[in-house]
Amino acid sequence: MTGDVTRVSTRSARSTSEEEGASTSEEEGRSTSEREGASTSEEEGRSTSEEEGSFWWGAATAAYQIEGAVTADGRGPSIWDTFSAEPGRVADGSSGANACDSYTRWPEDVELLSGLGANAYRFSIAWPRVQPLGHGRVNPGGLAYYDRLVDGLLERGIAPFATLFHWDLPQPLEDAGGWLVRDTAERFAEYAAVVADALGDRVACWGTLNEPFVHMALGYAFGTHAPGRVLLLDAFAAGHHQLLGHGLAVQALRSAGDVPVMLVNNLTPVRATSASPEDAAAAQVYDAFHNRMFLDTVLLGSYPDVLAEAEGAVARDGDLDTIAQPLDLLGVNYYNPTLVTAPGADNPLPFEIVPIEDHPTTGFGWPVVPEGLTELLVGLRDTYGDALPPVVITENGCSYPDEPGPDGTIDDAARIAYLDAHIDAVGAARDAGVDVRGYLAWSLLDNFEWAEGYTQRFGLTHVDFATGDRTPKASYAWFRDRIARDW
Ligand code: FCB
Repeated sequence: MTGDVTRVSTRSARSTSEEEGASTSEEEGRSTSEREGASTSEEEGRSTSEEEGSFWWGAATAAYQIEGAVTADGRGPSIWDTFSAEPGRVADGSSGANACDSYTRWPEDVELLSGLGANAYRFSIAWPRVQPLGHGRVNPGGLAYYDRLVDGLLERGIAPFATLFHWDLPQPLEDAGGWLVRDTAERFAEYAAVVADALGDRVACWGTLNEPFVHMALGYAFGTHAPGRVLLLDAFAAGHHQLLGHGLAVQALRSAGDVPVMLVNNLTPVRATSASPEDAAAAQVYDAFHNRMFLDTVLLGSYPDVLAEAEGAVARDGDLDTIAQPLDLLGVNYYNPTLVTAPGADNPLPFEIVPIEDHPTTGFGWPVVPEGLTELLVGLRDTYGDALPPVVITENGCSYPDEPGPDGTIDDAARIAYLDAHIDAVGAARDAGVDVRGYLAWSLLDNFEWAEGYTQRFGLTHVDFATGDRTPKASYAWFRDRIARDW
């Protein structure tokens, strides 16, 4: 499921169909330097980014994809260390053991953000650095890294947007059942309280989970991501417990301070291959799993009706009240729409994802459909109305295999076209009245792209993984100018 569903279709198709016979397809004023500018909360009289006339511009990364240094300063193992060590799990046999070595080279990365004119940076905190066992003992050496990073960002006038969980669960929690067990939700809230205590005086915005749908689908339903479980529809429990962990973490973060909080979802407009009742029903159920399971619950306090049976098997009384904590912002990661058809006779799932053929594709094979982002944002507003908090685009971007030319420059014209069209698509949604407060490109750097290893380059900045050298691509200079234009 890629982002995205494509990732769902391409990634899961590869392993599920081959391994399990379960196919899903055939185949700012930029101010922000300090907390006042960096806040979107109105509590304490702090103004929102929109009221200041400012918009969050920046880029996003995730801990396991860039940090490397997986044993430094007391970090414990995560499910991604375990998973990537298993033969055949990662396309090029690699892991995040070194990645971009941002653990050491973070000052260069802050410099790159500063050179872009970014006023926000979305990064994630590695739970196994903070609590190597996933509960209890706190590791000051791990927290100190984020302390340095946050201060470095603030010195450059860049608002720290910190995600608490971007898929790198501490291995001991996986050994105890991972997100399939309720206890992990409680542990997540405990961890959130630890991080809030350490960094809540300086972080501008908390993100609880990154893309709980993708983690549920790829990690637990299809097994193409860590922890590599192939439970198909029984993966629902991993989604529900992530949602519960989100709600409990929001409570913990709020008790620790008044920093704005968001959930970061991967969302996709779902299209049916035809108007037949069978295809329409398949699209509806896919939409429920991918989008509405992680929106209706959080924004409306209920599961979509088509998920009632799954809900009944896992949810307990009171869970939805916990899950539906008010949010300051909704983080939206957008890569592409999803085309769905009725399942074939041998498909154990109630839907089947099919490739979108009538659009160009990225290096990853993902269709480039910028208007899908406008459709998604306007659809969110139309569906959820006043229940929808202001939105930040927390990820959007594309992979292309661009390498330095003879003169050392990297002319990634296709990425420029992609970003330009998608930012314009956000602008169209804003013109239509959707309250969008920021756009954070994925990604600042080429990095470890999960099951694709280092074969997919999403960065505005090229990384030579042998030396760690960073070289801004043409898209970096283009994005800097676009940020300076500020719409
Ligand atoms: C998103 C993930 C992110 C990255 C991009 C390409 O689904 O959140 O870590 O892999 O896709």
